[in-house]
Amino acid sequence: MADDLGCWNIADLHAKARRRLPLGIWEYLERGVEDERGMARNRDALDALKFIPRVACNVENIDTSCEIIGVPSTAPIAIAPTGAAGLIWHNGDLHLARAAAKAGIPFTISSASTMDVEQIAEVGGKLWFQLYMWEDKELSYGVLERAYVLGCETLFVTLDLPVMPNREYLYRNGYGMPFALNRNNMLDVMMHPRWLLGVMGRYALGGALPAQANLPPNLKSNIMKSSKPGTVFRQADLDWEAIKILRDKWPGRLVLKGILHPDDAETALNVGADGVLVSNHGARSLDHSIAAIDALPAITDRVGGRMSILFDSGVRRGSDVVKALALGADGVLVGRAALYGLGAAGEAGVSRMLDILQDETRRVMGMLGLTDTGAIGSQVLAPR
Ligand SMILES: Cc1cc2nc3c(=O)[nH]c(=O)nc-3n(C[C@H](O)[C@H](O)[C@H](O)COP(=O)(O)O)c2cc1C
Repeated sequence: MADDLGCWNIADLHAKARRRLPLGIWEYLERGVEDERGMARNRDALDALKFIPRVACNVENIDTSCEIIGVPSTAPIAIAPTGAAGLIWHNGDLHLARAAAKAGIPFTISSASTMDVEQIAEVGGKLWFQLYMWEDKELSYGVLERAYVLGCETLFVTLDLPVMPNREYLYRNGYGMPFALNRNNMLDVMMHPRWLLGVMGRYALGGALPAQANLPPNLKSNIMKSSKPGTVFRQADLDWEAIKILRDKWPGRLVLKGILHPDDAETALNVGADGVLVSNHGARSLDHSIAAIDALPAITDRVGGRMSILFDSGVRRGSDVVKALALGADGVLVGRAALYGLGAAGEAGVSRMLDILQDETRRVMGMLGLTDTGAIGSQVLAPR
């Protein structure tokens, strides 16, 4: 595994990104909500799963490729939607999309991105689109039409933020919407000149600060200004009837993101969704929610074989990927790991993150005596 960055695992990319980014941006990327018990719970639950290796299985040729919601991928890994990647690296979404396309894995465009879907779709590759509903629903329906025409094959509707999550540090740091400059965050930014010049400096030279890019031009307002009427995300009124409307409007595959209860997975199936993403938003929504990996087995039991099941929240190693597949997922998404790569070195860092995870996945498969991802099942795990 070649490495020009001095990063041998996701934790190395994490440390490198931390050094480059101002505290306020770093905390936006890294932290959870409230007392931040959920992030540790996600990790503890993944770490508690143990493999039982098999020997003498001839694992000379290991193939990590697979299909995720009907899309061929070189590994059972995709990049999760993450808004505001453009604050971590200049035009960050392009860097994420390019690295994913080069690696041959799917990339999910966030509706909260600071580049619009047209700009990102130019990269090509396997593209998915994630939706949060704006207050003015017609704006959201409009962006769906554009995303579909531009080649996004699957729509992820994020359901685990019905109300605003309690991210106290954002307000403390002055990183709410709009951004509020204060003595602390000004100092913080000045102490990170590489970020200041390489990210904000380049936007300033281009004449435009980052904005909610997927809004029509007359409704966009940059991060220093208040949102225009109708353009704040508002999901409190989302119900299954609203999901049915989205199902009717979206001609491609539909995945509901943030499902943790088997009854919700079953209802998702009944309203015509093609898949669910078992996720607690990386512990960024409800601090005391069940660990996402602990929710996976009951959902697999209920809807497995009848719809696609994806997993995210806490994936940092190839072993996590294999564990999720063993519990019934068809693939996993990575959020923070991708942003660590982005924050460390832009596209090269994201490529490095994907190399590391793919290599670790291959290695774990070899240790378990498996040569293709389709063979990963509950037999690889010790009884709990
Ligand atoms: C900085 C950041 C921004 C995010 N933005 C979005 C978003 O715009 N839409 C969304 O559905 N999920 C968003 N998420 C959640 C991710 O899609 C994903 O569910 C989560 O990061 C998975 O956990 P992990 O970070 O441990 O991999 C975001 C996560 C992070 C860390």
